[in-house]
Amino acid sequence: MIKTVEYLDGVVRMIDQTRLPLEKVFVDCKSIDDVANAIKTMVIRGAPAIGVSAAMGVSLGAESIYADNFDAFYSQLEDKCIPLANSRPTAVNLAWGIERMKRVARESQLLSIPELKKKLKQEALDICKEDIESNMAMGNFGQTLINDGSTVLTHCNAGALATAGFGTALGVIRAAVNAGKKIDVLADETRPFLQGARLTVWELMEDNIPVKLITDNMSGFFMKNNQVDAVVVGADRIAGNGDVANKIGTYMVAVLAQKHQIPFYVAAPISTLDLSLNSGEEIPIEQRSEGEVVSLNNKRITPEGASAAHPAFDITPNDLVTAIITDKGIAKTPYTTSLKNLSEQ
Ligand code: MRU
Repeated sequence: MIKTVEYLDGVVRMIDQTRLPLEKVFVDCKSIDDVANAIKTMVIRGAPAIGVSAAMGVSLGAESIYADNFDAFYSQLEDKCIPLANSRPTAVNLAWGIERMKRVARESQLLSIPELKKKLKQEALDICKEDIESNMAMGNFGQTLINDGSTVLTHCNAGALATAGFGTALGVIRAAVNAGKKIDVLADETRPFLQGARLTVWELMEDNIPVKLITDNMSGFFMKNNQVDAVVVGADRIAGNGDVANKIGTYMVAVLAQKHQIPFYVAAPISTLDLSLNSGEEIPIEQRSEGEVVSLNNKRITPEGASAAHPAFDITPNDLVTAIITDKGIAKTPYTTSLKNLSEQ
């Protein structure tokens, strides 16, 4: 499997997810602003991958600072983090990754500046490694919920490409397959950015996991005909009460799943929880360009001048969520208590 993101000497290298699966090209980010731009333009996307690359970006930013004392160093670092922090609004992992790096800097202020830079680089590498470990842990917890012979529907891409590796929702599917279960996947295409068609289908095919692509308006058909046993999706931010922000269209899938009594699972690491928010209504929803809606693969599909709306995420209320699979264990309703308990472990 190709590495989604890696931190080499002075370079954060990412596979360009705007060009997959037709082209496998890499983008080399040499500065914190390059990383911010890669996140903004979706070269890298998916909440955990955004958090990991943001941490690597902060390290690149730190490397470029000339300062002879901690206060001067830290104030420059804070300034450099602003465009990165503003690159995308919904996935809380972005703020989480930046804040963890800043906290390490503050806690290491007695180090010399070269040692501090080294420490920050190591922290970014640790965050990357921990992300893969947490996906494996999530997979092991989550696969216990998936029966042998199941067909699992997923929306968007919450796979290796959306993380440092293995994936969250697709990590659960991979772990079930690794446990010897026969799993078939139905992948929603996920208009308008086509993360399902382009990325989920690609990475499951790479792993020889059976996957069938469906357009977003087909999921009700398959659910009604008893052809879906479980839904597993990822998340960009989960509020304290268990409301889930995820790719636009997730809410629609959750409503259908409830109607057909199909379990609806969300897989996300603890770093995706935002316990400072009481409900999903407080989660900022990214509005992306109309251009991505009025065109398909860069080809206009509407009359010229047509206008379009493009909220990039929606909120699935907690009462539609059967369980939230985290790297610390499985949370069930009431989420206010179960998520808090898991986050304190
Ligand atoms: O706009 P994207 O592609 O960054 O949206 C990604 C999603 O909505 C994913 O489902 C979510 O980030 C979880 S990724 C493990």
